[in-house]
Amino acid sequence: MIDQVERLLSEVDAFESGDPDEIEQFRIRMIGKKGKVTQLFALFKEVPNEQKKEFGKKLNELKTKSTQKVADLKGASKPAAETKSNLDISRPAEDLTLGSRHPISIVRNEIIDIFSRIGFSVSDGPEIEDDWHNFSALNFPKEHPARDMQDTFFISEDFSLRTHTSSVQVRVMETEKPPIRTISPGRVFRNEAISARAHCIFHQVEGLYIDKGVSFADLKQSLMYFAKEMFGEGTEIRLRPSYFPFTEPSAEVDISCVLCNGKGCNVCKNSGYLEILGCGMVDPNVLENCGIDSFQYSGFAFGMGIERIAMLKFGINDLRHFFENDIRFLKQFRSSI
Ligand code: PHE
Repeated sequence: MIDQVERLLSEVDAFESGDPDEIEQFRIRMIGKKGKVTQLFALFKEVPNEQKKEFGKKLNELKTKSTQKVADLKGASKPAAETKSNLDISRPAEDLTLGSRHPISIVRNEIIDIFSRIGFSVSDGPEIEDDWHNFSALNFPKEHPARDMQDTFFISEDFSLRTHTSSVQVRVMETEKPPIRTISPGRVFRNEAISARAHCIFHQVEGLYIDKGVSFADLKQSLMYFAKEMFGEGTEIRLRPSYFPFTEPSAEVDISCVLCNGKGCNVCKNSGYLEILGCGMVDPNVLENCGIDSFQYSGFAFGMGIERIAMLKFGINDLRHFFENDIRFLKQFRSSI
C-alpha cells in the first residue's frame, strides 16, 4: 500500500498542465471528495500496525503536495485562461450610442449664433408673466380686441402663461439703458388646438434693437442677413404690411421658398414665398411705458417661431413630431452647436 502512495507521489511530481480542465480533473482524482487521498485514508485501519506511521506520513505528504500542485498550476494558468475567454484584442470596439440635440435646440442655437455675430446678447425671463409685461406695456390696453390674437392661458386675472417672449423685451427695456441689442429665446403658450401646424406650447426667438437713429432700413438689412445665414446665400426676403399693437409700422416677413426657390410648389402653395416672422418699429408708446425717451431713441423688434424655422430648414411636415420624442425622429439630427 505504501508503494501505491509512492507511485501517486511521483505522479503528482510529474504532473504539469496549463489547461484549467485538466488541472480540475487532476484535483478531483487526487484530493476530491472521492479522490485517491480519501480512498487511502479509508484503508488506514487495514494497514499493519508497524507500517501505520510511515503510511500516515506519506499519505499526508501526498495530500499537501497535491493541494500545492493544484494551487500552483491554477495560479499559473489563470492569465492564459483569461486571454482566451474574455480578452480578444482584435475585436472591433462596441458602438457607443450617443444622444443627439433636439432639432429645436439645434435651430435655437443657430439663431443665437447668427445674431450674436452682429452684436445681440441673449436675455431670459419668466414663463408665468403678469399682465403688464405680456400685454399692457406692449400697448395692448385691457379689453382691446388685439388681445384675442393671442389665445391666452390665464392663471388669475393678472397672471398668465406668457404668449410671446416680447415680455422679456419689456423687462430688458425697463432695466437697461439703450443701446440695447438683445434676443430672447424661450417657450411660449397659447390656447390652440394641437394640429400639424399649431401647438399649445412652442418656442420663439424675439429680437430687439434700440438706439439713436435706428430705422426701418436697419430692420430690413438685419433680417436679410439672418435669412441668408439661416437658409442660404440665395435666399430672398419680402415684407408685407401687418399689424401688431407694439410696433408701428409692422410687417410680416416671407423668404423665397426653400424648396422651389420661388418657382411655386406644394409647400409654398404656389406663391413662391414662406412666412417666417413678424416685425416692426417699436411703438413710441412701448418705449415710454418702459422709461425710454421716444424722442431720442427708436428701435426695431421681430419675433419668430423656432418650430416654423426648423420645419422649413429640415423639411418636417408635422409640428407634433417635435413634442413626441420618438427616437427614430430625434436621432436623425446631429449638430455641432
Ligand atoms: N410677439 C409677436 C408674436 O408673438 C411677434 C413679433 C415680435 C412681432 C416683435 C413684431 C415684433 O406673434
